[in-house]
Amino acid sequence: MDKKRIIEWLKTEDQSALDDLWRQADKTRQQEAGDEVHLRGLIEFSNYCRRKCGYCGLRADNQSLNRYRMSQDEILQCVEQAVKFGYGTVVLQSGEDFGFSTEWLEQIIKEIKKRTDLAVTLSVGERSMEELSRWKEAGADRYLLRFETSNPRLYRRIHPPLPGEQSDRISLLRRLRELGYEIGSGVMIGIPGQTYGDLAEDILTFQSLSLDMIGVGPFIPHDSTPLMKDFEMSQGSPEQVPNTEAMTYKTIALTRLHCPRANIPSTTALATLNKAQGRELGLERGANVVMPNLTPPEYRAMYEIYPAKACIAETAEQCHSCMKNRIRAMGRTIGKGRGDSPAFLHGSGKEQP
Ligand code: 5AD
Ligand code: FES
Repeated sequence: MDKKRIIEWLKTEDQSALDDLWRQADKTRQQEAGDEVHLRGLIEFSNYCRRKCGYCGLRADNQSLNRYRMSQDEILQCVEQAVKFGYGTVVLQSGEDFGFSTEWLEQIIKEIKKRTDLAVTLSVGERSMEELSRWKEAGADRYLLRFETSNPRLYRRIHPPLPGEQSDRISLLRRLRELGYEIGSGVMIGIPGQTYGDLAEDILTFQSLSLDMIGVGPFIPHDSTPLMKDFEMSQGSPEQVPNTEAMTYKTIALTRLHCPRANIPSTTALATLNKAQGRELGLERGANVVMPNLTPPEYRAMYEIYPAKACIAETAEQCHSCMKNRIRAMGRTIGKGRGDSPAFLHGSGKEQP
């Protein structure tokens, strides 16, 4: 699809055309990724962050947040739960926390690999090549790093570089791939100042990077961040992408059509907009992955990237049975094994021109 056509889809409100889009995306998902829904156990192990992203509640200068970093033992207990629940993957996620050492995370990865058959996904921000290759050698399989927006000017505005450093997540993703990681990325939908053209370009960028995993979710403004004000001011401008459920489904469906073999989660941010049905509708419109939260309840509320996050008051057991029931009720099956992306297994991992 060319950019113009993608923009038309993003703008359309024609319900029968949209029903067609959902059907196409669902069919492509079924043919290329199958009926299995893969479960990734999410462990939000630290909310320390050295960055000042304009959108994120974990930003360094948000002083209204209590900070935590789980111990190795606490993390490994969550890993045990992942095994008990039959998950194929654990995702170790944190803010850009420079308060733990390379070795500390390396030991955790090695221990998980020694004790289990789980795939290990890291999502710990922009790190040095040295660290990324050490963690790969320790056994990490995948890396998640959203590029947030493909518009470089918008990116710099919402994600200011640290003094003396440059932030180029797209080039970092390429280097992660060269290290042998399965790579995942994604964007937020409805960032203040994001146009339909920007979002269409995001989808084309997913395709040209041949991503293995693509997570998209609505931007949800957070009171303790600078983008709250920008958000209020941006509303009503005709080229502004709305941060709605409908726009998220359109993006998921178009992403599936452009990246048929990628793993695409139905995200927590989407479930936050529609707690009753959001996850299911994502899974019916192109997604094939969900990420049940394994973070212990005492830490969950402190991982407040955005307000009113779904599952904030639930335990790992509750999220597990909730997800399982939802997937079964839809007539889909729960994925067995690691659930590597069909794109990665087919060795596509090559960029498209
Ligand atoms: N609303 C929605 N998503 C957000 N993220 C960060 N802040 C917000 C927000 N306010 C997303 C970013 C980040 C991921 C971990 O969470 O895309 O990469
Ligand atoms: Fe957490 Fe439903 S997945 S409560």
